[in-house]
Amino acid sequence: MEIINTIKEMTEISKEIMRKGKEIAFVPTMGFLHEGHTTLFDKAKDFSEITVASLFVNPTQFAPNEDYAQYPRNLEKDFSLAEKHKIDYLFVPDALEIYPIGFSTSISLRNITERFEGKFRPSHFDGVALVVAKLFNIVKPDFAIFGQKDYQQTLVIKQMVKDLNFDIKIIVSPTVRLENGLAMSSRNSYLSEKEKEEAAILYKAMEAAKTAVLNGERNRKKINAIMHQVLRTVSGIRLDYASAALSTDLSEPDLFFPNDIIVLLLAVYLGKTRLIDNSLVTVFGNNFERK
Ligand code: PAJ
Repeated sequence: MEIINTIKEMTEISKEIMRKGKEIAFVPTMGFLHEGHTTLFDKAKDFSEITVASLFVNPTQFAPNEDYAQYPRNLEKDFSLAEKHKIDYLFVPDALEIYPIGFSTSISLRNITERFEGKFRPSHFDGVALVVAKLFNIVKPDFAIFGQKDYQQTLVIKQMVKDLNFDIKIIVSPTVRLENGLAMSSRNSYLSEKEKEEAAILYKAMEAAKTAVLNGERNRKKINAIMHQVLRTVSGIRLDYASAALSTDLSEPDLFFPNDIIVLLLAVYLGKTRLIDNSLVTVFGNNFERK
Protein backbone atom coordinates (compact mmCIF):
# COMPACT_ATOMS: atom_id res chain seq x y z
CA MET A 1 0.00 0.00 0.00
CA GLU A 2 1.19 3.50 -0.82
CA ILE A 3 0.24 6.49 1.32
CA ILE A 4 -0.37 9.60 -0.75
CA ASN A 5 -0.60 13.08 0.78
CA THR A 6 -0.87 15.42 -2.19
CA ILE A 7 -3.57 15.94 -4.82
CA LYS A 8 -0.92 16.17 -7.54
CA GLU A 9 0.52 12.75 -6.76
CA MET A 10 -2.90 11.10 -6.32
CA THR A 11 -4.12 12.50 -9.65
CA GLU A 12 -0.99 11.33 -11.48
CA ILE A 13 -1.38 7.83 -10.07
CA SER A 14 -5.05 7.71 -11.08
CA LYS A 15 -4.26 8.87 -14.62
CA GLU A 16 -1.56 6.23 -14.93
CA ILE A 17 -3.97 3.51 -13.77
CA MET A 18 -6.51 4.72 -16.37
CA ARG A 19 -3.84 4.70 -19.09
CA LYS A 20 -3.16 1.06 -18.27
CA GLY A 21 -6.86 0.36 -18.86
CA LYS A 22 -7.49 -0.61 -15.23
CA GLU A 23 -10.46 0.41 -13.13
CA ILE A 24 -10.46 2.03 -9.68
CA ALA A 25 -12.84 1.32 -6.79
CA PHE A 26 -12.79 4.07 -4.17
CA VAL A 27 -13.85 4.20 -0.51
CA PRO A 28 -13.92 7.67 1.08
CA THR A 29 -13.70 7.72 4.91
CA MET A 30 -12.98 10.04 7.79
CA GLY A 31 -10.69 7.45 9.37
CA PHE A 32 -10.72 5.89 12.86
CA LEU A 33 -11.44 2.77 10.89
CA HIS A 34 -13.54 -0.15 12.11
CA GLU A 35 -15.13 -3.22 10.54
CA GLY A 36 -17.85 -1.08 8.91
CA HIS A 37 -15.13 0.63 6.86
CA THR A 38 -13.02 -2.48 6.20
CA THR A 39 -16.08 -4.29 4.86
CA LEU A 40 -16.29 -1.52 2.26
CA PHE A 41 -12.58 -2.00 1.48
CA ASP A 42 -13.18 -5.74 0.93
CA LYS A 43 -16.16 -4.97 -1.28
CA ALA A 44 -14.06 -2.53 -3.36
CA LYS A 45 -11.76 -5.41 -4.34
CA ASP A 46 -14.83 -7.25 -5.75
CA PHE A 47 -15.33 -4.39 -8.21
CA SER A 48 -11.85 -3.35 -9.32
CA GLU A 49 -8.30 -4.56 -9.48
CA ILE A 50 -7.12 -1.25 -8.00
CA THR A 51 -8.53 0.09 -4.73
CA VAL A 52 -8.13 3.58 -3.31
CA ALA A 53 -9.36 4.76 0.09
CA SER A 54 -9.18 8.22 1.60
CA LEU A 55 -8.78 9.32 5.21
CA PHE A 56 -9.89 12.91 5.65
CA VAL A 57 -11.87 14.45 8.49
CA ASN A 58 -13.75 16.96 6.40
CA PRO A 59 -14.21 20.28 8.20
CA THR A 60 -16.96 21.55 5.87
CA GLN A 61 -19.42 18.84 6.94
CA PHE A 62 -19.21 19.80 10.63
CA ALA A 63 -21.13 22.78 12.03
CA PRO A 64 -19.18 25.10 14.38
CA ASN A 65 -20.88 23.55 17.45
CA GLU A 66 -20.11 19.97 16.35
CA ASP A 67 -17.24 17.56 17.08
CA TYR A 68 -14.69 18.35 14.30
CA ALA A 69 -11.85 19.04 16.77
CA GLN A 70 -12.67 16.02 18.93
CA TYR A 71 -13.41 13.61 16.07
CA PRO A 72 -11.39 10.45 16.93
CA ARG A 73 -8.16 9.92 15.00
CA ASN A 74 -5.68 7.03 14.93
CA LEU A 75 -3.60 7.15 11.77
CA GLU A 76 -1.23 4.30 12.65
CA LYS A 77 -4.09 1.86 13.24
CA ASP A 78 -5.88 3.12 10.12
CA PHE A 79 -2.77 2.54 7.96
CA SER A 80 -2.41 -1.04 9.17
CA LEU A 81 -6.13 -1.84 8.72
CA ALA A 82 -6.17 -0.38 5.20
CA GLU A 83 -3.06 -2.37 4.29
CA LYS A 84 -4.52 -5.56 5.76
CA HIS A 85 -7.65 -5.09 3.65
CA LYS A 86 -5.68 -4.71 0.44
CA ILE A 87 -6.08 -1.01 -0.23
CA ASP A 88 -3.53 -0.14 -2.93
CA TYR A 89 -3.43 3.64 -2.40
CA LEU A 90 -4.44 5.47 0.76
CA PHE A 91 -5.05 9.18 0.13
CA VAL A 92 -4.45 11.20 3.31
CA PRO A 93 -4.48 14.92 2.51
CA ASP A 94 -4.44 17.65 5.14
CA ALA A 95 -7.16 20.30 5.38
CA LEU A 96 -5.16 22.97 3.50
CA GLU A 97 -4.47 20.58 0.64
CA ILE A 98 -8.23 20.12 0.13
CA TYR A 99 -9.30 23.66 1.09
CA PRO A 100 -6.42 26.03 0.29
CA ILE A 101 -6.60 29.68 1.29
CA GLY A 102 -9.01 31.39 -1.09
CA PHE A 103 -11.15 28.31 -1.71
CA SER A 104 -14.51 29.71 -2.81
CA THR A 105 -16.82 27.05 -4.24
CA SER A 106 -19.79 25.40 -2.61
CA ILE A 107 -22.16 22.66 -3.68
CA SER A 108 -25.73 22.78 -2.50
CA LEU A 109 -28.45 20.19 -3.03
CA ARG A 110 -32.15 20.85 -2.49
CA ASN A 111 -34.96 18.51 -1.38
CA ILE A 112 -33.26 15.35 -0.12
CA THR A 113 -30.89 17.43 2.04
CA GLU A 114 -33.76 19.29 3.70
CA ARG A 115 -35.21 16.26 5.49
CA PHE A 116 -34.16 14.30 8.61
CA GLU A 117 -30.37 14.77 9.07
CA GLY A 118 -30.55 17.92 6.95
CA LYS A 119 -33.08 19.47 9.35
CA PHE A 120 -30.85 18.93 12.35
CA ARG A 121 -27.51 19.51 10.57
CA PRO A 122 -28.42 22.16 7.96
CA SER A 123 -25.06 22.52 6.16
CA HIS A 124 -23.86 18.94 6.69
CA PHE A 125 -24.78 17.37 3.34
CA ASP A 126 -23.47 20.33 1.33
CA GLY A 127 -20.11 19.75 3.03
CA VAL A 128 -20.30 16.02 2.29
CA ALA A 129 -21.22 16.66 -1.36
CA LEU A 130 -18.38 19.18 -1.74
CA VAL A 131 -15.66 16.92 -0.39
CA VAL A 132 -16.95 13.84 -2.20
CA ALA A 133 -17.09 15.76 -5.51
CA LYS A 134 -13.51 16.92 -4.97
CA LEU A 135 -12.35 13.40 -4.03
CA PHE A 136 -14.10 11.99 -7.11
CA ASN A 137 -12.26 14.49 -9.32
CA ILE A 138 -8.92 13.74 -7.66
CA VAL A 139 -9.19 9.93 -7.49
CA LYS A 140 -11.22 9.47 -10.71
CA PRO A 141 -12.83 6.18 -9.64
CA ASP A 142 -15.06 3.93 -11.74
CA PHE A 143 -16.83 2.68 -8.59
CA ALA A 144 -17.34 4.31 -5.20
CA ILE A 145 -18.49 2.30 -2.20
CA PHE A 146 -20.62 3.80 0.58
CA GLY A 147 -22.24 2.27 3.67
CA GLN A 148 -25.97 1.96 4.19
CA LYS A 149 -25.22 3.12 7.76
CA ASP A 150 -25.49 6.68 6.40
CA TYR A 151 -28.57 6.03 4.30
CA GLN A 152 -29.47 9.65 3.55
CA GLN A 153 -25.85 10.32 2.58
CA THR A 154 -26.10 7.59 -0.10
CA LEU A 155 -29.18 9.30 -1.57
CA VAL A 156 -27.42 12.67 -1.57
CA ILE A 157 -24.34 11.23 -3.30
CA LYS A 158 -26.46 9.41 -5.91
CA GLN A 159 -28.37 12.63 -6.62
CA MET A 160 -25.16 14.64 -6.99
CA VAL A 161 -23.59 12.01 -9.26
CA LYS A 162 -26.68 12.14 -11.47
CA ASP A 163 -27.01 15.93 -11.49
CA LEU A 164 -23.33 16.63 -12.14
CA ASN A 165 -22.78 13.72 -14.57
CA PHE A 166 -20.04 11.96 -12.64
CA ASP A 167 -19.33 8.77 -14.56
CA ILE A 168 -19.07 6.70 -11.38
CA LYS A 169 -21.14 3.74 -10.22
CA ILE A 170 -22.24 4.14 -6.60
CA ILE A 171 -22.32 0.91 -4.59
CA VAL A 172 -24.13 0.72 -1.23
CA SER A 173 -22.98 -1.91 1.24
CA PRO A 174 -25.05 -3.17 4.23
CA THR A 175 -24.54 -1.84 7.76
CA VAL A 176 -22.09 -3.78 9.91
CA ARG A 177 -23.30 -4.22 13.49
CA LEU A 178 -21.96 -5.37 16.84
CA GLU A 179 -23.50 -8.50 18.33
CA ASN A 180 -26.09 -6.47 20.28
CA GLY A 181 -27.26 -4.74 17.08
CA LEU A 182 -25.44 -1.43 17.57
CA ALA A 183 -24.20 -0.16 14.20
CA MET A 184 -20.42 0.24 14.15
CA SER A 185 -19.37 3.88 14.10
CA SER A 186 -16.23 5.89 14.81
CA ARG A 187 -18.37 7.93 17.22
CA ASN A 188 -19.13 4.81 19.32
CA SER A 189 -15.75 5.55 20.94
CA TYR A 190 -17.51 8.42 22.76
CA LEU A 191 -19.86 5.92 24.51
CA SER A 192 -19.27 4.43 27.98
CA GLU A 193 -19.63 0.64 28.35
CA LYS A 194 -23.09 1.17 29.87
CA GLU A 195 -24.13 3.44 27.00
CA LYS A 196 -22.86 0.89 24.46
CA GLU A 197 -25.25 -1.65 25.97
CA GLU A 198 -28.10 0.86 26.10
CA ALA A 199 -27.47 1.84 22.48
CA ALA A 200 -28.77 -1.58 21.41
CA ILE A 201 -32.21 -0.01 21.87
CA LEU A 202 -31.91 1.67 18.44
CA TYR A 203 -31.74 -1.72 16.75
CA LYS A 204 -34.56 -3.06 18.95
CA ALA A 205 -36.77 -0.10 18.02
CA MET A 206 -36.20 -0.72 14.31
CA GLU A 207 -36.80 -4.45 14.70
CA ALA A 208 -40.12 -3.79 16.51
CA ALA A 209 -41.24 -1.44 13.74
CA LYS A 210 -40.11 -3.89 11.08
CA THR A 211 -42.12 -6.70 12.71
CA ALA A 212 -45.20 -4.46 12.79
CA VAL A 213 -44.81 -3.62 9.08
CA LEU A 214 -44.35 -7.29 8.21
CA ASN A 215 -47.54 -8.00 10.19
CA GLY A 216 -49.47 -5.49 8.09
CA GLU A 217 -49.00 -2.11 9.78
CA ARG A 218 -48.91 0.57 7.07
CA ASN A 219 -49.81 3.69 9.00
CA ARG A 220 -46.67 5.84 9.20
CA LYS A 221 -47.55 7.53 12.49
CA LYS A 222 -48.28 4.17 14.12
CA ILE A 223 -44.95 2.78 12.89
CA ASN A 224 -43.19 5.85 14.32
CA ALA A 225 -45.05 5.43 17.63
CA ILE A 226 -43.76 1.86 17.95
CA MET A 227 -40.16 3.07 17.62
CA HIS A 228 -40.72 5.93 20.07
CA GLN A 229 -42.25 3.56 22.60
CA VAL A 230 -39.28 1.17 22.47
CA LEU A 231 -36.72 4.01 22.60
CA ARG A 232 -38.42 5.54 25.65
CA THR A 233 -37.58 2.42 27.68
CA VAL A 234 -34.02 3.76 28.02
CA SER A 235 -34.05 6.83 30.24
CA GLY A 236 -31.56 9.45 29.13
CA ILE A 237 -32.22 8.93 25.45
CA ARG A 238 -33.16 12.09 23.52
CA LEU A 239 -34.71 11.85 20.08
CA ASP A 240 -33.94 14.01 17.10
CA TYR A 241 -36.17 11.71 15.07
CA ALA A 242 -37.32 8.10 14.74
CA SER A 243 -39.41 7.98 11.60
CA ALA A 244 -40.51 5.81 8.73
CA ALA A 245 -40.17 7.25 5.22
CA LEU A 246 -40.16 6.11 1.62
CA SER A 247 -36.67 4.82 0.87
CA THR A 248 -36.59 6.43 -2.59
CA ASP A 249 -36.95 10.10 -1.61
CA LEU A 250 -37.54 10.13 2.17
CA SER A 251 -41.05 11.51 1.71
CA GLU A 252 -43.55 10.74 4.47
CA PRO A 253 -46.96 9.57 3.21
CA ASP A 254 -49.69 8.93 5.80
CA LEU A 255 -50.00 5.36 4.55
CA PHE A 256 -47.51 3.04 2.90
CA PHE A 257 -48.55 0.69 0.09
CA PRO A 258 -47.55 -2.83 -0.99
CA ASN A 259 -44.15 -2.92 -2.68
CA ASP A 260 -43.09 0.32 -1.01
CA ILE A 261 -39.65 0.01 0.52
CA ILE A 262 -39.75 1.82 3.84
CA VAL A 263 -36.63 3.18 5.50
CA LEU A 264 -36.76 3.47 9.29
CA LEU A 265 -34.52 6.40 10.19
CA LEU A 266 -33.24 7.15 13.68
CA ALA A 267 -31.12 9.89 15.21
CA VAL A 268 -30.84 9.94 19.00
CA TYR A 269 -28.61 11.33 21.70
CA LEU A 270 -27.33 8.93 24.30
CA GLY A 271 -25.71 11.20 26.86
CA LYS A 272 -23.65 13.59 24.74
CA THR A 273 -23.24 11.22 21.80
CA ARG A 274 -25.43 11.51 18.73
CA LEU A 275 -26.11 8.17 17.01
CA ILE A 276 -27.83 7.52 13.69
CA ASP A 277 -29.09 4.26 12.26
CA ASN A 278 -31.57 2.96 9.70
CA SER A 279 -33.19 -0.17 8.40
CA LEU A 280 -35.12 -1.10 5.26
CA VAL A 281 -38.37 -3.07 5.14
CA THR A 282 -40.58 -3.91 2.16
CA VAL A 283 -44.36 -3.68 2.50
CA PHE A 284 -45.98 -6.93 1.41
CA GLY A 285 -49.61 -7.50 0.48
CA ASN A 286 -51.82 -7.31 -2.56
CA ASN A 287 -50.18 -5.49 -5.39
CA PHE A 288 -52.25 -2.38 -6.08
CA GLU A 289 -51.26 1.02 -7.28
CA ARG A 290 -50.39 3.92 -4.98
CA LYS A 291 -53.13 6.56 -5.44
P1 PAJ B 1 -17.24 7.89 7.71
O1 PAJ B 1 -18.24 8.16 8.78
O2 PAJ B 1 -15.81 7.64 8.09
O3 PAJ B 1 -17.76 6.67 6.87
C1 PAJ B 1 -17.09 6.27 5.70
C2 PAJ B 1 -17.96 5.24 5.00
O4 PAJ B 1 -18.10 4.09 5.85
C3 PAJ B 1 -19.37 5.76 4.72
O5 PAJ B 1 -19.81 5.34 3.44
C4 PAJ B 1 -20.18 5.11 5.84
O6 PAJ B 1 -21.55 4.93 5.52
C5 PAJ B 1 -19.47 3.78 5.96
N1 PAJ B 1 -19.75 3.15 7.27
C6 PAJ B 1 -19.54 3.67 8.49
N2 PAJ B 1 -19.97 2.82 9.45
C7 PAJ B 1 -20.46 1.74 8.81
C8 PAJ B 1 -21.07 0.51 9.23
N3 PAJ B 1 -21.26 0.22 10.51
N4 PAJ B 1 -21.45 -0.37 8.27
C9 PAJ B 1 -21.28 -0.09 6.94
N5 PAJ B 1 -20.72 1.04 6.49
C10 PAJ B 1 -20.32 1.94 7.41
O7 PAJ B 1 -19.34 8.98 5.87
C11 PAJ B 1 -18.30 9.60 5.99
O8 PAJ B 1 -17.21 9.12 6.67
C12 PAJ B 1 -18.09 10.96 5.34
O9 PAJ B 1 -19.32 11.63 5.31
C13 PAJ B 1 -17.46 10.88 3.92
C14 PAJ B 1 -18.39 10.16 2.94
C15 PAJ B 1 -16.09 10.21 3.98
C16 PAJ B 1 -17.25 12.33 3.39
O10 PAJ B 1 -16.45 13.05 4.24
